[in-house]
Amino acid sequence: MKNEKRLVMALIVLIVMFLALLSARGGFENATPPQTTEDESVLEDEDLIVVGFSQLGSESVWRATHTESIQNALSKENGFFLQYSNARQKQENQIKAIRGFISQRVDYIVFAPFMEEGWETVLMEAKDAGIPVILVDRKIAGSEDLYTTFIGSDMEAEGRKAGEWLEADQEHIDRGEDDPLNIVMLTGPFGSTSQLGRSRGFLEVAQRHADWRILAQESGDFTVVKGKETMAKLLRQYDDIDVVVSQNDEMTFGAMEAISEAGLTTGKYGDMKLISFDGVKDALELVQYGKISCEVECNPQQGELVAEVIRKMEAGEKVEKEYFVDELVFTQANVGAYLKDRTY
Ligand code: AHR
Repeated sequence: MKNEKRLVMALIVLIVMFLALLSARGGFENATPPQTTEDESVLEDEDLIVVGFSQLGSESVWRATHTESIQNALSKENGFFLQYSNARQKQENQIKAIRGFISQRVDYIVFAPFMEEGWETVLMEAKDAGIPVILVDRKIAGSEDLYTTFIGSDMEAEGRKAGEWLEADQEHIDRGEDDPLNIVMLTGPFGSTSQLGRSRGFLEVAQRHADWRILAQESGDFTVVKGKETMAKLLRQYDDIDVVVSQNDEMTFGAMEAISEAGLTTGKYGDMKLISFDGVKDALELVQYGKISCEVECNPQQGELVAEVIRKMEAGEKVEKEYFVDELVFTQANVGAYLKDRTY
């Protein structure tokens, strides 16, 4: 028995020595070094471009499509290693995620800022670490030196398109000769680029019309629930709303529920007209049925452009300060041609 024990011990010692020898000579090609995750060893092997992506949340179909577009474009097959973080609508979560990416020394940081203000400190840290920052979807306030490039929508142009559509359509709105055109605006979170830009663009057109009266600008947080709640409140406050400008499709769906629960209708022959933003499939169908009168597209398919710009930077080429994606305006007259291809 004693001899057997000695034999086992000797065997263990031999195995340990053998393993130590192998690892010292680099014998385990795929061995994971201490404090290195399996993913990181894959990176070393495959020479992937490491990107940290901080998404602001998952509040809408648009947002889910945007996330997916970036995840698909920055895939391993395409030469990228993507670290994804969802901030769930909290700026402090985004700041934490960006700090995490800096400490991991990623090659690029891609992020969709929830708000425009409040990024100076963390982006200065990224700059000091020499990590290029690519803004997607929304912008930041302050110095342009804090980021390399922006890829997304021209939110102000979107707001203007909404105003210009109304400018052309207002003569079809039934109202007394001297009555103003009563407008309510359901906005995105105050301080976000989508809210600031779309409001600025729409109000720029509104200013040209002395008879357009903006009754209210209230945030519906880009969600169905808050959109419905805010619209219900506005309907209790104002009994002669002609136009609802809703800055995203989720709020529009919520607002439509509130309007119908109040016994009212939308559309050409309805009690009020609806202008919406985004252009997700469900909304385009409502444009076809005539329930939404105008849909200003916000294009979430930004991933390919992000990948292209990173490749340019990798090749040492100069990149533009901003890239805008293509966007359309849909009405009942043209929506049929686009509906069949809409995947989201
Ligand atoms: O910033 C883009 C906006 O954010 C989209 O209009 C909206 O649906 C999203 O949540």
